[in-house]
Amino acid sequence: MEKSEISSVKKQFDADVKKLAGDSLSIEAISLLRNSYTGKDSQLAKLFKELGTLDSKERGPAGKELNVLKQHIEESCQLLEEQYIQHKAMVDDEKQDIDLTAPFATTKESLERLQSQGASNPVSEEVEKMLSIFRTMGFHIFEARELDTEYFIFDSLNFPPNHPARENWDAFKTAEGLVPTPHTSNMQVRVMRYFKKPPVRAVIYGRCFRNEAVDVVHGHTFHQIEGLYVDKGVSVADMIGTIKAYLEAFFEQEIVWRIQPSFFPFVEPGIEFMVRCIFCKGVGCGSCKHSGWLEVAGAGMIHPNVLREAGIDPDEYTGFAWGLGLDRTILQKNGIKDIRSLFASDIRFLRHDV
Ligand code: DAH
Repeated sequence: MEKSEISSVKKQFDADVKKLAGDSLSIEAISLLRNSYTGKDSQLAKLFKELGTLDSKERGPAGKELNVLKQHIEESCQLLEEQYIQHKAMVDDEKQDIDLTAPFATTKESLERLQSQGASNPVSEEVEKMLSIFRTMGFHIFEARELDTEYFIFDSLNFPPNHPARENWDAFKTAEGLVPTPHTSNMQVRVMRYFKKPPVRAVIYGRCFRNEAVDVVHGHTFHQIEGLYVDKGVSVADMIGTIKAYLEAFFEQEIVWRIQPSFFPFVEPGIEFMVRCIFCKGVGCGSCKHSGWLEVAGAGMIHPNVLREAGIDPDEYTGFAWGLGLDRTILQKNGIKDIRSLFASDIRFLRHDV
């Protein structure tokens, strides 16, 4: 066996591979190529047979070279198959007019595949409903900042420096002195400034964080929807009317409400908005802790100092603000027992299997 015989087989094979690339590539063509170079009647098989006729000195190196060639052929064929599969997937997608960069399903098959891999979280589903109600009421929607400065979280909201009221918010703090926001009220002054001047109609949705001992009803991470309405002549009656209209749209029933005084440095007066329990109609149940009432939001007329901080003249304009806690409502509405399941990413929970 001549060395040149082995290298001429390799040359021929490489030339054939080149010819195959492109449109003439197919699984059958690759299989034919593989067969003609490694099959029973192939040149390579013939050379392997000849090994036996070589004297022992030559047999080793020649055998080695043949094996290298065989491996080269095998690997090249595998590579061709991969190229073909990728190429085909691309051509198929183009035929279906698919935008490969689209972050959503565009065909029935891809939708089914996505659906079998995941499911949307009840928080996302309910938030969508809530925001669309506010949208139809004419509010602009914003997303809250999660990591913020003490200025927006406390100072701009009329918390005196170092005042113990800050402790009520149980805020975390990063090593750099930033704060994962403990409420969505951190967006109030920012959003009012964004509007430049009233009217301001804004709803801000976001995640909040507090240093809470975690159990079935308390999470360190939760969601709020903040609302702001500033204009000439806005009154407490407008605040109650707005919150009530939203709650009736969300719960899809008439509600019975009451307000009770509460204290937040950024509103005056401050209130707690209560709804007669929609589950037991006020009789008393687990959802309302047997009180007959659900606390749904903190709210109030925006403090003149906060309006001033946002560049709005409190002698000319008034406004109200609210902060709705979402998580407890989502648990109650969906009969979910443990708040931690909202964050556990357990696919069985998300698919409503458990
Ligand atoms: N930020 C308050 C909290 O997390 C809730 C709140 C109360 C928001 C009164 C408001 C408000 O906008 O006016 O407890």
